[in-house]
Amino acid sequence: MPDTLTVTDNRTGKTYTLALHDGNIRAIDLRQIQTNPDDFGVMSYDPAYTNTAACRSSITYIDGDKGILRYRGYPIEQLAEKCTFPEVAYLILNGELPTPDQAQDWNEHLMRRTMLHENVKKFMEGFHYDAHPMGMFISTMAALSTFYNEAKKVLDPEVRKLEVLRAISKVPTIAAYTYRHSMGLPYVYPDNSLTYTENFMNMLWKMTEPVYKPNPAIARALDILFILHADHEQNCSTSAMRGVGSSQADPFVATAAAAAALYGPLHGGANEQVLRMLDEIGSKDKVPAYVAAVKNNKGKLMGFGHRIYKNYDPRARILKWAAERVFEVTGRNPKLDIALELERIALEDDYFVQRKLYPNVDFYSGIIYQALGFRPEMFTVLFAIPRTVGWLAQWEEMITDPEQKIARPRQVYTGKALRDVPARP
Ligand code: CMC
Repeated sequence: MPDTLTVTDNRTGKTYTLALHDGNIRAIDLRQIQTNPDDFGVMSYDPAYTNTAACRSSITYIDGDKGILRYRGYPIEQLAEKCTFPEVAYLILNGELPTPDQAQDWNEHLMRRTMLHENVKKFMEGFHYDAHPMGMFISTMAALSTFYNEAKKVLDPEVRKLEVLRAISKVPTIAAYTYRHSMGLPYVYPDNSLTYTENFMNMLWKMTEPVYKPNPAIARALDILFILHADHEQNCSTSAMRGVGSSQADPFVATAAAAAALYGPLHGGANEQVLRMLDEIGSKDKVPAYVAAVKNNKGKLMGFGHRIYKNYDPRARILKWAAERVFEVTGRNPKLDIALELERIALEDDYFVQRKLYPNVDFYSGIIYQALGFRPEMFTVLFAIPRTVGWLAQWEEMITDPEQKIARPRQVYTGKALRDVPARP
């Protein structure tokens, strides 16, 4: 059976044979379908890209109907159980899990670059006392572009490698500084004798003690959270990363653009909104009324629904489990009971069942973050740290893909036809 599609244009009666590549047509092949030689040809119209593949990628696989997520072929459940975040970062960037020697080397390289230039710190001190941490994160990431001028050489593989390493090493430091700034606390310098996640905890929570001792259970929980958030193929922020990167802008400003996309409440900003929603609901007995209001178009159930998953988000399942482990150390966050009740009622309700709306990654992550002592404003920053790995891996894949060019979608023009400017008074 040939891998082709036959299309008949009912306007002209002509028939076209379109080749299928991996089961898909190339949108440009539609352009041969014309009513006359001057006709521009047919395009595909796809607002919000609900059915358009913009790249070929070998990083992350999702089967939304079955609730499957894999990085480089490995199931997310196994990676969360058996690996550390730096190992998973290495996997996402390089395609294979590191050997013990490679892992040690990678950790050393990562930890060697955790410091920020003192002027970055001074730059951050300029933010208002109540600046949103995500606004600080985005701006500081963009500002790194001014500290590493050579990052503009995006076609040089060695430069790219160094800047990717720099960005991944420094995101926890930037994130921790946004936290300390919003708390009015002095910044804590990195301690490179710790692991990636432990050092992040050190920069967040060290007070007057001479050496910070991270709780291993919390460090592991954060590591798992980072693993679950590391990549998610062509979502809104990754598409922003690829789109901005396609103009050959440097990786720091492209990462800032991706982080800006993540900030929105429909994307990574949803974790912050989930906590606000649980606060608004207040107690378990108010859940039915809240769900009824959502069904009456009075807002959305934040942390529910996904463009791709039409089944339980596998990350939410792991987070539900991780929440219980964290609560063994921190004490139970009472919001979990409201969340569990919300999930129970929603999953039995026809509105949610018919629309295949399930809890997504943001539904349980905020409850864990809050139990760890973070204010909701910090939640999206915690998402951005590990996602920086995914953004940069996707950026590298885009830059080295010979088929990729500057991203430039088409439009269907709906404005006025040609007209003359009337005589001016
Ligand atoms: N609560 C109530 N109804 C919903 C929700 C929700 N959370 N999500 C979708 N729907 C309804 C929507 O109103 C529509 O109903 P109808 O067919 O009657 O018009 C139907 O379900 C289909 O939804 P959609 O808006 O076409 O779906 P989408 O693929 O465009 O949007 C989404 C996906 C994630 C933006 C959306 O589900 C949403 O806004 N969820 C809440 C925000 C959220 O949790 N975002 C985090 C996403 S996962 C992590 C991440 O990306 O960072």
